[in-house]
This record gives sequence, C-alpha cells and structure tokens, in this order.
Amino acid sequence: MKIGVAYDFVRWEERAIIDAIKKLGHDVVPLQVSKKVFWLTEPNGYSGLDFIIQRCVSFYRALSSTAIFEEQGIQVVNNFNVIRDCEDKLYTTLKLAKNNIPVPRTGVSFSRDGCLDIAEKLGYPLVVKPIYGSWGRMVSRALDRDSLLEIIEFREYMQSPYLKVHYVQEYIDKPSRDIRAFYFWGEVPAAIYRVSNSWKTNTALGGVAVEAELNNELIEIVKKTGYIMGGGVLGIDILESRDGRYFVSEVNAVPEFRNTVRVTGKDLARKMIELTIKNIKK
Ligand SMILES: Nc1ncnc2c1ncn2[C@@H]1O[C@H](COP(=O)(O)OP(=O)(O)O)[C@@H](O)[C@H]1O
Ligand SMILES: [Mg+2]
Repeated sequence: MKIGVAYDFVRWEERAIIDAIKKLGHDVVPLQVSKKVFWLTEPNGYSGLDFIIQRCVSFYRALSSTAIFEEQGIQVVNNFNVIRDCEDKLYTTLKLAKNNIPVPRTGVSFSRDGCLDIAEKLGYPLVVKPIYGSWGRMVSRALDRDSLLEIIEFREYMQSPYLKVHYVQEYIDKPSRDIRAFYFWGEVPAAIYRVSNSWKTNTALGGVAVEAELNNELIEIVKKTGYIMGGGVLGIDILESRDGRYFVSEVNAVPEFRNTVRVTGKDLARKMIELTIKNIKK
C-alpha cells in the first residue's frame, strides 16, 4: 500500500507512525501540509495514495487539508466529520448525552446571566471550557459565584468569538487521576491513568502516565463513544467520580500517544496502521 501521513509538526508520534508503515512493508508518503500549496480547482497529485493518516496539530490545518484530500478522492483517518465533531466539545457532549453515554451535566449559555442560571442548577465548583482547544488550555474551574463571573468576564473580552460560547459543566470530584483510553476501529488497544496533583491532568500540564487496567464497563463506554463519534483512531478522556462512576469528558481525533507507549510497552503506531488497513473501506 501507499500511505500518506499529513502533518504540520513532527512529534514522536508522527515518526512512530512513519516507522510503523515502513516496518509493515508499505510505502509512506510524508505530507507536510504547512509547507504545501493545495489547489481546490485542480488535482493535487495524491490520487495514488490508498489512504492518509491525518496528524496535524493545528485543528484548522487538519480539517482543511482533510476536506481537500477527501473531496479529491482519498480517504483520510480520521475523516472530516470525525475531526470536526470531536474538536467541538459542545457537539461531542450533546451527541454523547443523546446516545446515553455518561457525560458530566453541562449547560451552554451565550450570556453572563445565563451562566449564573446554569450555576444555580449545578452548584459549585464548576468547569468552564473553550469549546475548541486542547492541552487543558483555558479550561477553568469556578469555585464560587465570584470566580465564575471573573472567568466569564475574561471570556467576554477575548477576541475569539468561540470563547463567547460559554460551556459550563459540573465538576467531577475525582481521585487524583483521569483516564485516557484509545479507540482504534472498535478496539480498545490501551489506556492510561494520568495522575496529577492538579485537577487538570493533561500530560502537557505535568500529568504522569501510569498504565490503567480497563474493566468491562469502561471498555463498553470507550467502544460506544468511539462508535458514536464515528472513529477511526481516537483518544477518549474519561473522568471517574469518587463513588466509581465514569463520565466521558472529551474525544480527541488526533491523539498523542507517546507516553502511553512508554508506560504500556504497546506498539500503538503499528496497531493503528494494521487496524486502519483492515477497516478502511476498499
Ligand atoms: N467536568 C470536569 N470535572 C473535573 N475535571 C475536569 C472536568 N473537565 C475537564 N477536567 C480536567 O481538565 C482536563 C482538560 O479538560 P478537557 O475537557 O480534556 O480539555 P482539553 O481538550 O484541553 O484536554 C481534563 O483532562 C480533566 O483532567
Ligand atoms: Mg483532554
């Protein structure tokens, strides 16, 4: 097979994916989308590829280049809809809740007063998140009414219009860890705990990876979440409450997995390519 890897920055993950494709005996075509010109009105010469693994860090690069590849006839993993839907935390929560996947109780308001109404129903602490973003950036916790108002004030004065969509969520009181599970085409190849003293356990913020054992309930939640979001290759964040309930926090369509490979010893890049080849529509 001839497999493209679309990327903007080369992280450990992109190198691992390129290596895995070669080791499995396929040809790899690296596509640094940030350095390319794409024609919308004529072919761009990628039609010989069997599929493309989308790895752009930038959401807009990932989504835009995927649109071009797909419309010009090449399958991309993850596909356009999956990348768009997972990036949008509002849409993800809505979609999962509708399909009876446990998610934290969440409201959205476009006004300060609306946020206070949501807070009255949910109580404090509360979590306020940008609907787009990652690495825990600007995910904020309001411990009381005053801090909620301060967070909303900051958001209202920011330039980005999407920050004025206020996504307000119950805070899940959890042990000092969260779960990051991987979903590859209906399978759950690995999971880690992200252990941290901070309530935000993102690895980018110092969360430490420890291998996690998944029970059947968790595996079911991960499988159902992956299926509903339409993946592909996904990283699913799960919060656990102290009384043992699980809540899906968000789904990542271009997941990082370096630390998971390090602590589990599992070759996730290879698994990703093997399962993609097996599952991609011929
Ligand atoms: N409702 C919540 N209750 C408790 N902790 C949360 C909640 N939502 C997010 N977190 C913490 O904040 C981190 C970042 O939030 P997340 O929704 O995953 O955004 P990001 O896309 O920036 O990673 C999570 O990994 C988790 O540790
Ligand atoms: Mg996250």
